[in-house]
Amino acid sequence: MDPGLTCGGCGHPVDRLEPVCPACETPRPGAGWTPDPRLGDRLPDGRVLRRRLGFGLTGSVYLADREGGHEPIAVKVLRPDLSGDPELARRFRLEAVLTRSLNIPQVVPAYEWGELPDGAPFFTMEFVDGPGLDRVLAEQGTLPVETVLVLARQVLSALDVAHGLGVIHRDLKPANLLMARDAQGRLLVRILDFGFARLLADASADGPPRRLTRARTVLGTPTYMSPEQARGSLVVDSRSDLYSLGVILYRALAGVAPFTGSQQDVLRHHIETPPHPVTVHRPDVPAELGRILSQMLEKDPDHRPASAGAVLAVLNAAFPGSTGSFDPDQLRAAAAPRAELVRQVERHVLRTRSLPAMADAPQADQTSVAATRAAATPVGARSGRRRAWLALAVGLGLLGLGVASWLVLRA
Ligand SMILES: Nc1ncnc2c1ncn2[C@@H]1O[C@H](COP(=O)(O)OP(=O)(O)O)[C@@H](O)[C@H]1O
Ligand SMILES: [Mg+2]
Repeated sequence: MDPGLTCGGCGHPVDRLEPVCPACETPRPGAGWTPDPRLGDRLPDGRVLRRRLGFGLTGSVYLADREGGHEPIAVKVLRPDLSGDPELARRFRLEAVLTRSLNIPQVVPAYEWGELPDGAPFFTMEFVDGPGLDRVLAEQGTLPVETVLVLARQVLSALDVAHGLGVIHRDLKPANLLMARDAQGRLLVRILDFGFARLLADASADGPPRRLTRARTVLGTPTYMSPEQARGSLVVDSRSDLYSLGVILYRALAGVAPFTGSQQDVLRHHIETPPHPVTVHRPDVPAELGRILSQMLEKDPDHRPASAGAVLAVLNAAFPGSTGSFDPDQLRAAAAPRAELVRQVERHVLRTRSLPAMADAPQADQTSVAATRAAATPVGARSGRRRAWLALAVGLGLLGLGVASWLVLRA
């Protein structure tokens, strides 16, 4: 578990045994790293940040709850020193807006957003009680074929819907998949971290897609990157996600990723080295599954399956009767319409520099995404109305001042 420690020099999150801070290179002090100073901070709704769930390059995620552990939520906080970077701040808003709007059961939804007292932007989201696939793989080495099939189907059905709406994740890796359980105790994979996601201008466009959101300069983790990402291409499409998922499934079956070594080596291998068939590492993997993985891992996106739906159809035909599946048609029917997604992004990400502030706690039942969204929606409207009243008051005040000075000058 994340020990919740930071570098006293720059505040960057660190692991307990880290010899030097990865951000500012301060050596670990003799007494050890400092506890994260945000622990104990209070959100506007009264919940308290209790422990750090994880951290990445751009910020940390905390568990926040009320006294006695009630109503836990997760809070993603952008590092305060990065919140002045307009590109990162915009990406952070995009993540919050996309995950709140998508309404796909596998996608962990954002609820509300705001700023901590030191100005660091945050958004709250559903707390998912389940380990990351990275931890599961570190502990177990490999997963049973049946579990990998359930994992594949759940992620593919979510991707099929998200891609259809023009949303590409671009950072699929085991740490961004949480292995949760549904109410019946069955595996339910939850997809996290849309921090590098992109919304295509035209979800049905053929050929190189136009970008509605700007591309990121440096992308994700080399191990799970697609060849086009490894080349630094700015115009990756949904087939890049299929490659990354192929690497994840390969890693889960084989016990090793297709390519290992230094970052430079891994990038080069993604571009030019054909991977060993997964069955070389794990002979009990059914041949058809091995073939599907090899297709997902094709270097040229044109040689990969055309869509997540296409992979799903082949999997379902080859392995009928597997449990834990989602019907993409039902998911599609429940998901946000594309027009609403674009409207939300234009409103909260492209046109504004900030998100409406968090006013109240999301009181809704956290297992109901729709109810939570309904509960979360009026917040923006409320704070919008507050701003309008404030503007009116300031305007009237200025008018009064003007009239008064005119009277004074005339006298
Ligand atoms: N909603 C959540 N519920 C439980 N754990 C979470 C949640 N969100 C994030 N985490 C944990 O925090 C880690 C970092 O979160 P993530 O959104 O991936 O941030 P980053 O963009 O920094 O990688 C995740 O790998 C996961 O372990
Ligand atoms: Mg992450």
